[in-house]
Amino acid sequence: MKTLEREETGNAGETAPPPGRAADPCLMVIFGAGGDLTKRKLIPALCNLAAAKLLTDRFAIIGFAYNDLTTETFRKQLSEDIRQFATCPVSPEMWDWFLKRIYYVRGDFQDPKAYQQLKEQIAQAEKAHDTPGNHFYYLAVAPKFFGGVVRQLGAAGLASEENGRWRRVIVEKPFGRDLESARALNAELKQVLEERQIYRIDHYLGKETVQNIIMFRFGNGIFEPIWNRRYIDHVQITAAETVGVELRGGYYETAGALRDMVPNHLFQLVSLTAMEPPISFHADSVRDDQAKALHAIQPPTPEEVLTMTVRGQYGEGRMGEERVPAYRAEPNVAPDSSTETFVALKLRIDNWRWADVPFYLRTGKRLAKRATEIAVQFKRAPFQLFRNTSVESLQTNRLVVRIQPDEGISLRFGAKVPGPIMRMGAVEMDFNYVDYFGSTPSTGYERLIYDCMIGDATLFQRADMVEAGWSVITPVLDVWKALPPRAFPNYAAGSWGPKEADDLLARDGREWRKIE
Ligand code: BG6
Repeated sequence: MKTLEREETGNAGETAPPPGRAADPCLMVIFGAGGDLTKRKLIPALCNLAAAKLLTDRFAIIGFAYNDLTTETFRKQLSEDIRQFATCPVSPEMWDWFLKRIYYVRGDFQDPKAYQQLKEQIAQAEKAHDTPGNHFYYLAVAPKFFGGVVRQLGAAGLASEENGRWRRVIVEKPFGRDLESARALNAELKQVLEERQIYRIDHYLGKETVQNIIMFRFGNGIFEPIWNRRYIDHVQITAAETVGVELRGGYYETAGALRDMVPNHLFQLVSLTAMEPPISFHADSVRDDQAKALHAIQPPTPEEVLTMTVRGQYGEGRMGEERVPAYRAEPNVAPDSSTETFVALKLRIDNWRWADVPFYLRTGKRLAKRATEIAVQFKRAPFQLFRNTSVESLQTNRLVVRIQPDEGISLRFGAKVPGPIMRMGAVEMDFNYVDYFGSTPSTGYERLIYDCMIGDATLFQRADMVEAGWSVITPVLDVWKALPPRAFPNYAAGSWGPKEADDLLARDGREWRKIE
């Protein structure tokens, strides 16, 4: 599609900073600072924020972990890691500025004494960098530690907000394993923290194209009037990965594709696609409408679980030229594992906007192509004007929001094929982010970390949203647990998943969009 001249001013080709003022002066504590997330995402994201001048000089970071490191060796290690994981050039001056603000405390998350050491280190860093007592704690730790760390923070007096200072906690996923455990974790955190202090992160909300769904729907006048059951036939949401379980077999065996992707990432996409227009862009206003959409998804009955859900596990196969092993042959996976690596679901959203418009979801590992997208399939034209002509079948309109890897939006419609006879062809209007705005080499965490520092929780999950998601998924988990899969593995690596996923749509006279 030929693009219009850009009216908006942006920074094509540069780091894309969230627009606005520099973050509040504050101190960040990373629990589990020795892990992958810190070096791969958090430190590169903080560098990008610093490069975009969104951090003030009154900022410091304390890494807290069990690894045998000191401030000096931690700084050294990060200096090596940043070479590999930076998404933008990091100048020596900038890195120097950054490094001076990084400290390390070695300790056991369950040991109260370690929190006293942390407190001392915080006091020193606050003095050195003149931070005014605002802290945020990033829990990059195994979920079993979430509740304990927060309790210890409370006991050490590090969680209470006094004299205008804020204290916030970012909690990574997975947030619970089912409805009961998610409720219990929410209750545990709330013994120490107020809901407004809890930032439940979902990295999908850090993706530009996911944030763009709100802009696309509510910043334009032409889509919202047709965004309902009158015009939309159904919605397909796909999150397909080509990678296998990699080295995460230990975790994945306890999770599976359903827990790993659906109540969090895919439900974010569902709620943004299905929500009513919020009355303002205030965090709670947006999240109220997201939560309402999630509450409208009908939890399936046990019978419906059998007809509306499909699970799969990859066997060996080919990814391009390469032969790849079956899931059961991956490291730390049981040779007779019944963990699913693929899931497809049909959801019903029972409200006035979406009654009778199914939302089909599918996600899996070792699929034929990496692609995350939302495809909105519109209904056929109501009157078949071309019925008795040589125009046999009218193509339906379809809007596809491509989230990754190539980000953009395309709209398919029918057009007359030039020539003396009436023939219709499907054509596409295609908008590509890169063509229009340049590439934005971010980690996806910049915006989320920055938002936490300025106290904007719009892109974080609230307790009720998490619980609403689990209340839909838990009945599926229960039935699946009671009826172990009979025919795993049931799809070859490099394919589009098990045949049953195609049958799920075929029963409704539909098919999955072919993603080329
Ligand atoms: C993570 C899951 O939350 O999301 C992974 O644990 C998955 O299994 C990943 O691969 C997908 O994220 P993205 O950003 O690559 O779509």
